[in-house]
Amino acid sequence: MALKVPKEKGEAVRKILLEKGYLDISLKVGRSDKHLLFPVLSEDAENIGCELVEDDFEERALAETDYRSLAHVPGELKELLPTSFDVIGDVGIVKLPEALLPYAKQVGEALRQVTPRLRTVALDKGVKGELRVRDLEVIAGDRSTETTHLEYGNRFLVDPAKVYFNPRLANERRRIASLVKQGEVVVDMFAGVGPFSIMIARYALPSLVVAVDLNPDAVEYLKRNIELNKANRVVPYEGDARQVVFDVPCADRIIMNLPHSALDFFHDALTRLKVQGTIHFYHICERDQAGQVVKDLIADAKGMGVMLKAKRIEELKTYSPSMSVFSVDFVLVDWC
Ligand SMILES: C[S@@+](CC[C@H](N)C(=O)[O-])C[C@H]1O[C@@H](n2cnc3c(N)ncnc32)[C@H](O)[C@@H]1O
Repeated sequence: MALKVPKEKGEAVRKILLEKGYLDISLKVGRSDKHLLFPVLSEDAENIGCELVEDDFEERALAETDYRSLAHVPGELKELLPTSFDVIGDVGIVKLPEALLPYAKQVGEALRQVTPRLRTVALDKGVKGELRVRDLEVIAGDRSTETTHLEYGNRFLVDPAKVYFNPRLANERRRIASLVKQGEVVVDMFAGVGPFSIMIARYALPSLVVAVDLNPDAVEYLKRNIELNKANRVVPYEGDARQVVFDVPCADRIIMNLPHSALDFFHDALTRLKVQGTIHFYHICERDQAGQVVKDLIADAKGMGVMLKAKRIEELKTYSPSMSVFSVDFVLVDWC
């Protein structure tokens, strides 16, 4: 939520917002040609006499010194305090080293103090199982972890304790949407609550986006998000993508965002891709193995009679000291 203020009134309005406690100091102020966009914590800010609008904001770096001094943890553990955390809607998600676990509540409270828009802070105990759901424990604030996350103007209703959602993939989703051509059939094999599918439906002109997920909670949120964003070209399917890909039309583009096990589905996906179609493939592996994995997939495809080309390979994010998540765009050149 932002207050849209003409630039010449910016300084005066900023002072009032600060005095009244409306300004969200954890986010950077946005700018357009003639306006400043102040991130605000309450709709009451509108009473100042400016327009309230929806917008995305960049996080400010955590005010590390304030946060360290605020957290009631033994002095010798202060240097272990995390310097970053994820935010989904108004839920903060933080990982802690073993030694800080007894002080999780104190860390959560300190984070809420320096980041006022956090309604809840939850401890991240890792992503688990086939459905990739995060094991979360609320350590400060409200008990509910259901929230609405804003991403490039899309609204995603999500409960990160029940379904997978990664706010760090926003730019990757926007990149994929920018590649989609008019009339394409897109299959999002591991759609979750729909962030790739809905971004594509909102920013491109596909004829159909098939969004599949095995987690019934994810499909429930996906349906609500389709409505919330009026993304009518997205058709939700609950089920195993391995089967669903054979029940839906062949695709111009297939998204495979299941980095731990997408390899197991690659063969099936390839048989459902049109000539000149693209697979967006996400894979976690040792950093020095990524090139070999891509070569092996191209060789396997050749064995199937498919000429495949890796058009783009990007190291998307670090997963562990030696492993990363890679994003690969494969194009099916032709059948050989
Ligand atoms: C890493 S998450 C990605 C979710 C979504 N694309 C996103 O960016 O937020 C992978 C998703 O695949 C789903 N999943 C796991 N195995 C599946 C299968 N065999 N068929 C369909 N979906 C599956 C999980 O439930 C989870 O929502």
